[in-house]
Amino acid sequence: MIKHLLSMQDLRSKEIETILNDAVKLKQKTKKEETHEVLRGKTLAMIFAKPSTRTRVSFEVAMTQLGAHAIYLGWNDLQLGRGETIADTARTLSRYVDVITARLFKHLDIVELARYSSVPVINALTDLHHPCQTLADLLTIQEHKGKLKGLKMAWVGDGNNVCNSLMLGCTLVGADISLACPKGYEPPTELVKQARANARESGSKVEIVAEPERAVLKSDVVYTDVFVSMGQEAEANQKLKRFLPKYQVNKALLNHAKSDAIVLHCLPWKPGQEITKDIAYSPQCVAFDQAENRLHVVKSVLTFLL
Ligand code: CP
Ligand code: NVA
Repeated sequence: MIKHLLSMQDLRSKEIETILNDAVKLKQKTKKEETHEVLRGKTLAMIFAKPSTRTRVSFEVAMTQLGAHAIYLGWNDLQLGRGETIADTARTLSRYVDVITARLFKHLDIVELARYSSVPVINALTDLHHPCQTLADLLTIQEHKGKLKGLKMAWVGDGNNVCNSLMLGCTLVGADISLACPKGYEPPTELVKQARANARESGSKVEIVAEPERAVLKSDVVYTDVFVSMGQEAEANQKLKRFLPKYQVNKALLNHAKSDAIVLHCLPWKPGQEITKDIAYSPQCVAFDQAENRLHVVKSVLTFLL
C-alpha cells in the first residue's frame, strides 16, 4: 500500500515520533556537513497552485541534500492550467517520478491526486491542512521544551489550515491545545471531533474558548498565523475588522502565558496585525527556527515515505 501524507491523521503517534527522531539525526548530519544521499536517483514533482517560499525551497534543498532531484511545476506550467484533469495528471506523473508534493486550493483536489497516483503524495498546503508545517512545529517545540506530551499550546486567531493541522498533531502526540478564534472562524466541526478523538486516546485535551487570554493562560506555546490566508483576499477588510485588536498576539496577551512560553508563527506574517513587531522579532518568537526545521523534517518525511 502506498502511504500518502495529506493530513496529520495519515500518521500514527509512533510514526510522528519516528519522523521527528529521524529529523533530529538528519539535522545533525546537515550541521556536520555529513553526506546523507539516501534517496540517490529519486525524483520529486512539486505542483504549486499558490506562491511559496519555505515549502518550495525546503523541499527542493531537501531533495538535493538527499542526493535526489526535484522538479518545480507551477499550475500553469502543467496542462492542468488548460484543463487536463487531476486524475490524468496523477496517472502521468506517477510514470515518471517517485513522489509528488502539491500545494492546492481545495483539499479534495489533493485527495483526488493521491487517489490516482501510484507514488506517495505529500500535502504542501491546502485550504484545510498543512501537515509539513505541523511536523516542523512539533520538532521546534520539542527542541525548545524538551518534550511534547503534557505541554499546553494556545492558538489565537483564524481557525485555518495551519491551525487544523496543529490541533490534530498536538492531540496525536499528547499535548493540550486551547483555541481562541472569532465566532464563525473556528476550525471545522469534523476536525475538532477528530482532534477530540485523538485527545481521548493520547490523554490530552482540546478546548475552544471565547477569550484569547483564557486560551493563552499558563500555556507553554502561543501560536498564531495571518488573519487572511492565500485565496481569501476578497474577505480581507471584513476579517481584519473582526479579528483586530482582540486576537492580536502582543505583550499584554503574553502576560497570561507561562513566563518561559515561546511564540510560534508559520510565516509569512503581517507584523502589526496578528502579531506585534516587538514580539515577532523578540527572542521569545522561534518562527525562523520553525522555518529552518521545515528542511530537516521534510527530509525525514521523504525518506519515511520512500
Ligand atoms: N509556512 C509556509 O508554508 O511558508 P511558504 O508559504 O513560504 O511555503
Ligand atoms: N494560512 C496561511 C499559511 C501560509 C503558509 C495560508 O494558507 O495562506
